[in-house]
Amino acid sequence: MHKTPITGLISDQQLETLAQQGFTLIDDFLPADLVGALREQALQLRSEGIMRKAGIGRNEDSRIISEVRGDSIYWLDDTGQSLEQTTFLTCMRTLQEQLNLYFFLGLFEFECHFAVYDPGAVYKKHLDQFRGQQERQITAVFYLNDAWRQQDGGALRLYLDDGDSQAYLDIPPLGGRLVLFQSGRFYHEVLPAARTRISLTGWFRTRPLDLR
Ligand code: OGA
Ligand code: MN
Repeated sequence: MHKTPITGLISDQQLETLAQQGFTLIDDFLPADLVGALREQALQLRSEGIMRKAGIGRNEDSRIISEVRGDSIYWLDDTGQSLEQTTFLTCMRTLQEQLNLYFFLGLFEFECHFAVYDPGAVYKKHLDQFRGQQERQITAVFYLNDAWRQQDGGALRLYLDDGDSQAYLDIPPLGGRLVLFQSGRFYHEVLPAARTRISLTGWFRTRPLDLR
């Protein structure tokens, strides 16, 4: 059987696609056993009651409105709290360097959280850059679901045009799949699923502008 090496590197073709269309999919980004372990850790955090309902907006004015955003999240710390989380973060740092070499983006950190959506939970259409805060450059969603089927729903709906067109692409949250897209460019939403939907969602960031 083909064994995926654990590196975090993506192919030139995938980089090219990201450059051309602003988003790209990487299937089997990490091996299935690692995906499975991360999934179990997410579910464990959830069952221990350590996850928090996600808010909308940033920091102090963050509000919890479940009809708009229904997931529960847990932020990873810098080093990770398990071998698997550390491996994931190491891969994302490798990818960060690769993106910097290719795009000259000046990405300097990666922040990410586990996200668990109960059946029926959604995240309505939104942009990942908050108003007046553009540090989030590239969104990275890594799916941890086991044997996801089309009829389970829960697609990431990526709106393809920032103009009037309402064209979109529905991306099923298949375990091992990494989706990368330009955070400031694509509106997107999470459709309701029939099953619990699990991911690691993160953002490559640039340094905040110091306007003092
Ligand atoms: C988010 C988000 C997409 C997904 O957390 O901001 O849009 O597919 N997630 O989970
Ligand atoms: Mn988002």
